[in-house]
Amino acid sequence: MLRVRGLTVGYGGEPVLEGIDLEVEAGKFAALLGPSGSGKTSVLRCVTGLMRPQSGRVELDVPPTEVGFLFQDDALLPWRTARQNVALGLRIRGAPRRAADEKADHWLALMGLEDFGGRFPRQLSGGQRKRVAIAQVLALEPKLLLMDEPFAALDAIVRTRVTQELLGWVEREHLSVLLVTHDLEEAISASDFVYVLSQGPRARIRARHEVHIARPRNVLESRRHPTFGPLLRRLWDDLSGEPASVDYAL
Ligand SMILES: Nc1ncnc2c1ncn2[C@@H]1O[C@H](COP(=O)(O)OP(=O)(O)OP(=O)(O)O)[C@@H](O)[C@H]1O
Ligand SMILES: [Mg+2]
Repeated sequence: MLRVRGLTVGYGGEPVLEGIDLEVEAGKFAALLGPSGSGKTSVLRCVTGLMRPQSGRVELDVPPTEVGFLFQDDALLPWRTARQNVALGLRIRGAPRRAADEKADHWLALMGLEDFGGRFPRQLSGGQRKRVAIAQVLALEPKLLLMDEPFAALDAIVRTRVTQELLGWVEREHLSVLLVTHDLEEAISASDFVYVLSQGPRARIRARHEVHIARPRNVLESRRHPTFGPLLRRLWDDLSGEPASVDYAL
């Protein structure tokens, strides 16, 4: 679905990322972990075409209209209500107002915001705005979903609930996902593969791990799976800069 090959990215001088290779196969869920400032958002910018890499290429198996992108900063229009924000993309694609509003309400309800459709972004908390932004992207039913730290602003309960809704949708619809996150446990419980970026500058893919937990998954149950603890340790070692041992280097 998505292939990134030899991606080197810089902002002016030194490369931030160097020779990044990663892949998301159709129907697979990949997580991208890495220290703050290592270049995770820059990878997504290249995938969406917002930024041109210095070298390397990005190959997508679907047209850009099938790619949903959830930005790290929320991008809701302040003069539109939550419902209107979620419905906007559907309206632009030609959906009649009523159908767009109904779909918007459906997605807002899945995000636990059924009573907030009429509110403006300024009348919502940070976590509520984030959930509106998630609903906005999912309502367009993308085939490939790119998300940059979508759950960072949510409390533990809401985060688990929203992740579970998202996972259910992804599994039913066989979506392909690339999720950027700082949360090791979230990366494991949601993904089929976890990529780890090294500390920049010139960050590289330090490791790629496969998650051997069957689907459909329950976010909380996944944490009790026997492979969960050992993988968590490996990710911790990868991120804390311990020398990666050969068996789990890429
Ligand atoms: N527009 C820009 N101009 C110059 N440097 C930039 C720009 N955007 C990002 N950078 C630098 O590139 C590096 C990678 O940034 P990026 O936003 O991709 O990191 P990240 O892994 O997403 O970090 P975080 O986890 O904090 O979101 C950082 O060192 C950052 O300071
Ligand atoms: Mg970022």
